[in-house]
Amino acid sequence: MLTFPAGFLWGVSTSAHQFEGRNTHNQWSAWERRGRIRSGDTCRDACGWWQSSARDIDLCRHLGLNAMRISVDWGRIEPREGAWDRTAIHRYRSLLKEIHGAGMRPFVTLHHFTHPIWFEERGAFLSPRSIEQFAGYAERIVDELADLCSDFVTFNEPNVYTAFGYVFGNFPPGHRYRIRDCAQVIINLHRAHALAYERIHFVHPESWVGLATHWVDFKAATDSAADRLLAFLYDATFNRSSLQLLWCGSLPFPLGSVTPEAPEVMQKIDFIGLNVYNRLHVRSPWDEASRKTGGLYVPQDAPQGDHGVELPYGEAYPEVVANAAREYAALGVPLYIMENGVPDRTDRIRPWVLTQSVRRTWEAIEQGLDIRGYFHWSIVDNFEWCEGWTLRFGLYEMDPRTQERFARGSAELFREIVQQNGLSDEQLSRFSDPPVSGRELVRR
Ligand code: BGC
Repeated sequence: MLTFPAGFLWGVSTSAHQFEGRNTHNQWSAWERRGRIRSGDTCRDACGWWQSSARDIDLCRHLGLNAMRISVDWGRIEPREGAWDRTAIHRYRSLLKEIHGAGMRPFVTLHHFTHPIWFEERGAFLSPRSIEQFAGYAERIVDELADLCSDFVTFNEPNVYTAFGYVFGNFPPGHRYRIRDCAQVIINLHRAHALAYERIHFVHPESWVGLATHWVDFKAATDSAADRLLAFLYDATFNRSSLQLLWCGSLPFPLGSVTPEAPEVMQKIDFIGLNVYNRLHVRSPWDEASRKTGGLYVPQDAPQGDHGVELPYGEAYPEVVANAAREYAALGVPLYIMENGVPDRTDRIRPWVLTQSVRRTWEAIEQGLDIRGYFHWSIVDNFEWCEGWTLRFGLYEMDPRTQERFARGSAELFREIVQQNGLSDEQLSRFSDPPVSGRELVRR
């Protein structure tokens, strides 16, 4: 039996836009209206949370979870600049009360990819004004919620937000290969985080303020200098931007040499959330097909979940949990595995991913890393950004047309893990190997 420390947090992660439904004031709803969801899906009611989150809170209670991560949508809260919507704030307060009522500790993310349309129209985080605007919003919403929550995540995944929005173009604002803008936005996001950190601590010193970053293991396809260089560049720019900004106030090489320093960001962190799912393989030089994916691919025989509309989601790779944690431990603050999961409609590979990721978390703790919780992505299927309803991440299946929920096998497995506060030998041996899967998107 692999037993976790007493008080370890077992939770699920969620986000406002992906669960609430009928969000019309953020830039993702505008993106959808422009027809930019690859699957052609619409978010519509999402998981219906704006009407009622009770069903899914009950499912969390059934699993015995003691933590839950949600996000608040800035577009709902401040649909027009300076106009605060009391009804929206009230709704978030009642959601937090429901979470407490089910015996869970809430974590609230202030920016999970979405912000108001008016903010987007002013250049979002490319504009220097965004830093003050975000910090003002953060201070005010925390003040509204602080009696019900003390753990706040300022930003979800600055690296995904910028890579997809300014390099790959599949998230709003939809730019491709604007590397300089991408670097500027990463810096501004961290400056906004740092200012929010100060403001929140000033008004609520007891609050904990962190950020969540995504980590991907990048593996060079061959030993060639070109493949290794490209894998190094992905690792440096994508994985280490938050780490290095928080550690020493500058972006890692090579972005660091073309961007200003941001010393005010250093050490402004109480905890780090790690969102860990995948390994991606990297090859160069790029042919026509691999240019489309930036040289990233997943080998045919690699374990993986379901395929996205155009691209594979990634190699399901539980080792990434410990690899990311080892690197971010350098900051000396508590770590949470804040997202982990796999798109898997039929629950073919999820039990293995879940078991092995929990095992890697346990091993990392055994080796001395301060990991305080594991949050699965997610409780039910939800609206997966530009992939729409194509990729299904739920422990429970959710039919967006009927809103019905059906348990997948992994829900029961997670319930057992949570109840045992660990993994049994039987679970470890039952899910020791990945089921065979895989298909290669890009061929040489
Ligand atoms: C994001 C979630 C997303 C999940 C699965 C994370 O990068 O924070 O919003 O649904 O990955 O792709």
